[in-house]
Amino acid sequence: MTVAAIIPAAGRGLRLGGGLPKAFRPLGGVPLFVHAVRALRASQYVESVIVVTLPDRLAEVGSLLGPAATVVCGGESRHASVAAGLAVLPPPVDVVLIHDAARPLVPPGVVDAVVEAVLAGASAAVPVLPVVDTLKTVDGAGRVVRTIPRDTIRAVQTPQGFRRSVLVRAHAEADPAAPATDDAALVEALGIPVMTVPGSPTAIKITYSVDLLLAEALLHADLAAEPAE
Ligand code: C5P
Repeated sequence: MTVAAIIPAAGRGLRLGGGLPKAFRPLGGVPLFVHAVRALRASQYVESVIVVTLPDRLAEVGSLLGPAATVVCGGESRHASVAAGLAVLPPPVDVVLIHDAARPLVPPGVVDAVVEAVLAGASAAVPVLPVVDTLKTVDGAGRVVRTIPRDTIRAVQTPQGFRRSVLVRAHAEADPAAPATDDAALVEALGIPVMTVPGSPTAIKITYSVDLLLAEALLHADLAAEPAE
């Protein structure tokens, strides 16, 4: 089996500040997407990495990554960016990982566990964590409607792993009117089972400035390899 990873990093999102798209924000002096490439290449299974970036950043990303990755232009949506990555997958690849550039510190053990679930026969596999907060639904006025039992709820991380044929079909048949926030949702929409494997508390998603501070601390503490629960 040949395993490749696609890293969608073509968001223009400037919410984090710093005047840079999120994937270009530095962590330990290195852009988030470079950490993401390193994290995936640290897996014993990943043979090639495709980074999807903004058209005006293509040359910069290409020269930063050198031979570590193939670099292509993304699209207007995350879905279009993943599709651009799928379009350049080399023919022998049969397992595809999709990993957000916003998760720079995913441990290699989590990447390996996702790949191993697909190699063991799953059509799709995602890393998950139990939810530690109590969950409630609220109405438009902010009033609590009810409390959601959390024992069957999981928070989903990346990389998400797929048999190539399954992901290509799920993307082709996706409903453009209902954009999905992850790739596994497209597979679920086809009625194909998605397996879970243990994620890691260090594979945090960089969304707010405080997440970057936490990631800097993790990087320096070298806790990025903390085993999953
Ligand atoms: O905005 P959000 O954090 O959900 O984006 C998830 C990932 O998708 C990010 O790594 C972002 O760069 C990527 N993305 C993309 N192309 C877009 C929009 C988002 O590759 N058009």
